Amino acid sequence: MVVVRKESPQDYEVVRRVNELAFGQPNEADLVDALRGVAQPRLFLVAVTAGQVVGHIFFSPVVIESGDSDFTAVALAPMSVLPEYQRRGIGSELVNEGLIKRRQLGITVVVVIGHPDYYPRFGFTPAKERGLQCEYEVPDEAFMVLELTPGSLPGKGGFVKFPPEFTNV
Ligand SMILES: CC(C)(COP(=O)(O)OP(=O)(O)OC[C@H]1O[C@@H](n2cnc3c(N)ncnc32)[C@H](O)[C@@H]1OP(=O)(O)O)[C@@H](O)C(=O)NCCC(=O)NCCS
Repeated sequence: MVVVRKESPQDYEVVRRVNELAFGQPNEADLVDALRGVAQPRLFLVAVTAGQVVGHIFFSPVVIESGDSDFTAVALAPMSVLPEYQRRGIGSELVNEGLIKRRQLGITVVVVIGHPDYYPRFGFTPAKERGLQCEYEVPDEAFMVLELTPGSLPGKGGFVKFPPEFTNV
């Protein structure tokens, strides 16, 4: 059985290890450590099975610059599951639980840079079709968006800016 719960300070070390092993490099683990200091609300989730933390997800704050106005949203990133626990639905549990929690916090729009075969199952669609442009150069199909509240995206689209901590990844 897998339980998804909020991360606590006791988890920091093992979360770092999960990220290092899942990504095969320290960059995302460093990013998570950096985001803990700046991101509000600080809602990091972990997936636990048999008393062991095996997965981690965070939704980073992003800004959608749209004409004269800025719109606050979140990016589903980073997310990781220990390699030996992947493809068992743990990532999906983290995403689903994370989206429920975001909705409860009043977040209405979530973007993701990721594999176009994975995220559509949660309702993500190409962001370009909604007039959104990513700050980073990524293939169009890899940049996706989900409206948690339909109709909340700025109609004229916008430019999505990530926290500066992402530039080192
Ligand atoms: C992405 C990740 C978190 C998914 O976790 P998971 O527990 O394996 O996810 P699930 O078991 O819920 O889903 C597995 C599905 O995702 C698909 N999938 C996962 N990563 C994928 C990828 N990079 N490309 C294509 N498909 C991928 C698998 O093919 C599988 O599809 P299926 O259900 O049709 O067989 C995990 O693979 C991981 O940690 N990867 C390395 C880090 C990473 O790339 N993080 C995401 C970017 S921040």
